[in-house]
Amino acid sequence: MNFEIFPTSPALIGRAAEQFIKTAAQSIQEHGHFSVALSGGSTPRILYARLATLPVPWQNIHLFWGDERCVPPNHSYSNYLMTVENLLDHIAIPPENIHRIPGELPPEQAAEAYEQDLRAFFGTSPRFDLVLLGMGDDGHTASLFPGSPALAESARWAVATEHTIPPLPLVPRVTLTFGVLNAARRVIFIVTGVGKAEKLAQIQGGENSLPAAQIQPTDGELLWIVDESAAGNLKRQTK
Ligand code: 6PG
Repeated sequence: MNFEIFPTSPALIGRAAEQFIKTAAQSIQEHGHFSVALSGGSTPRILYARLATLPVPWQNIHLFWGDERCVPPNHSYSNYLMTVENLLDHIAIPPENIHRIPGELPPEQAAEAYEQDLRAFFGTSPRFDLVLLGMGDDGHTASLFPGSPALAESARWAVATEHTIPPLPLVPRVTLTFGVLNAARRVIFIVTGVGKAEKLAQIQGGENSLPAAQIQPTDGELLWIVDESAAGNLKRQTK
C-alpha cells in the first residue's frame, strides 16, 4: 500500500494540494475537464481553504461529493456548506460545475436525484478523475459504514444510508457506492489524527472487512496521505 506520511499538517496539505492540481492539469489536458468527488468531514476543510488560494482552472473542473448528510445545504452538518465556506465562496467556478447532493430531500429521493446527475455527466460508466476520501475512527469512508447494507450495493451509484452508532452526526446520509469509488482513475485518502491509527494499521495488515480497506481502484491509483499521528501503528519500510 502506498502511504505517504507527513510530520505536520501544512506539509500534508501541501502534498494533497499538489496532487489535486497535478491530477486536474493531467485530466484537463487529456479530456478537457477534471471531475472530482470531494470528501466531507473536518480534515479536508484545510485542503479546500488552501486550494482557494492557488491558481486552479476551476472553469474546467466539475465538483461532486463522495457523500452528504441529509440536511439542508445551510445546515452545520452539511459537507456542501463546509465546502462553500472554505472553497466555493472564494473561487470563480461556473454554477453548473457544482454537483451538489440535494440533502434537503428525503434520503431516497436525494440519492436518486444525485444518481441522475451522475449519469447525466458520466453516461454509462462513472469514472471520476479523482476521488478524495477520509476515513473515520471506525474505518468507514464516505458514508459507507461497517456492517451497512450499502457495502454490498453493486448496481446503484448512490444510495441512502443510516447508522445508529457513532461517528456523529447520526443523520441519514447519501453516499457513492464502491462500484463508483473503485472505478476512479485516482483515489487519495487524507487521514489525520491518532484516532485513525488502529484501523489504518489493520488495513495495512490486510484487514479487508473495513469499508476503507475495500477501496481498491479497479484500474486506477490509490494514495494514502497521512499524518504521523494516524501513522503511529504502521510498519515502516526502513530506508
Ligand atoms: C463525512 C465524511 C467522512 C469523513 C470521515 C473522516 O461525511 O463525515 O465523508 O467519511 O471523511 O468521517 O472525517 P474526519 O476527516 O473529520 O476525521
